[in-house]
Amino acid sequence: MSKITAAITAVQGYVPDYILTNQELEKTVETTDEWIISRTGIKERRILKGEGKGASDMAAPAVLGLCKKRGIQPEDIDMLICCTVTGDHIFPATANIITDKIGAKNAFGYDINAACSGFIYGLVTGSKFVESGSHKKVVVVGVDKMSALVDYQDRQTCIIFGDGCGAVLLEPNTEGFGVKDSILRSDGSGFQHLHQKAGGSAYPPSIETVTKKEHHIHQEGQAVFKFAVTNMADVSAEIMEKNNLTSDDVAWLVPHQANKRIIDATARRMGLSDEKVMLNIHKYGNTTSGTIPLCLWEWEDKLKKGDNIILSAFGGGFTWGAIWIKWAYDSKK
Ligand code: UT7
Repeated sequence: MSKITAAITAVQGYVPDYILTNQELEKTVETTDEWIISRTGIKERRILKGEGKGASDMAAPAVLGLCKKRGIQPEDIDMLICCTVTGDHIFPATANIITDKIGAKNAFGYDINAACSGFIYGLVTGSKFVESGSHKKVVVVGVDKMSALVDYQDRQTCIIFGDGCGAVLLEPNTEGFGVKDSILRSDGSGFQHLHQKAGGSAYPPSIETVTKKEHHIHQEGQAVFKFAVTNMADVSAEIMEKNNLTSDDVAWLVPHQANKRIIDATARRMGLSDEKVMLNIHKYGNTTSGTIPLCLWEWEDKLKKGDNIILSAFGGGFTWGAIWIKWAYDSKK
């Protein structure tokens, strides 16, 4: 029997309607549209508005859209992995909430927290279930409602993050398409540079933690930038070398969208021209687990069967990694 690989067979995205522009942020913190664009590449981001709305409210329509596109029912999904750092609740897992909302009665699932590398960690995890033959329709969701964690008085972070969701369906393939190889890494000593201090078991919520704004993102931008730019570029080059892929062989780089300068450095290191780099940071900012599947969704029409695609990310933890995918289908348009 030929080897089973896990192929992406459909992609869907969801972004909320509300657009938070740089001009609007200029009114609330000391910043300028020019500074934000030149330092990050971001022009606007989406924000999920509405009392009681959480990550699952973006994921449910994305996964339903995915099913419709592929012509399957939610009951056909046998596993759903939700990659997020902003799940609806500390527990239970948002994967359970999503499967309940969409009626995916035959799916089991769980959440993966790897910050901005969440989606690539989830994609590798999901692909193992497909490759083993145990599961045939695995949905991997990358979703974050970063607006729930952002301090809109902190100009370092409020300009970067946004809300959004992307989802892919993984199915078995016996022709060699799908996830070909991956490198995943982590280094917990990076904790101090990027985290949310309170709300977990070490510092449970209290009046004091709220007053001290410890439920927001703490990011030491420059330190994170330094690690991100080196590690994302290194791991992307490493997966190419490991698999003897030249820059001509690679059709697309799908980078985590944290900062355009990090993306440019990664593409340069891989020897790729700008035309081969998926970039939507100007529209959505950094949606953490959502960035990579949102890119795949937007570029789906341009992808061709057999394209070599490199996904690459770096995020809190620290976590980082890269995946080589051989794209499995031509878009139907
Ligand atoms: O997604 C996963 C992980 N996250 C990342 O990968 C993010 C990595 N870091 C970054 O993208 C960048 O470090 C930031 C975009 C967060 C900041 O850009 P930077 O070029 O590293 O700026 P900086 O922190 O070095 O600050 C430079 C100057 C400072 O002023 P002084 O000290 O030179 O007077 C800041 O106070 O820019 C100032 N500054 C701002 N000015 C206008 C910081 N934020 C802003 C702002 N508007 N929003």
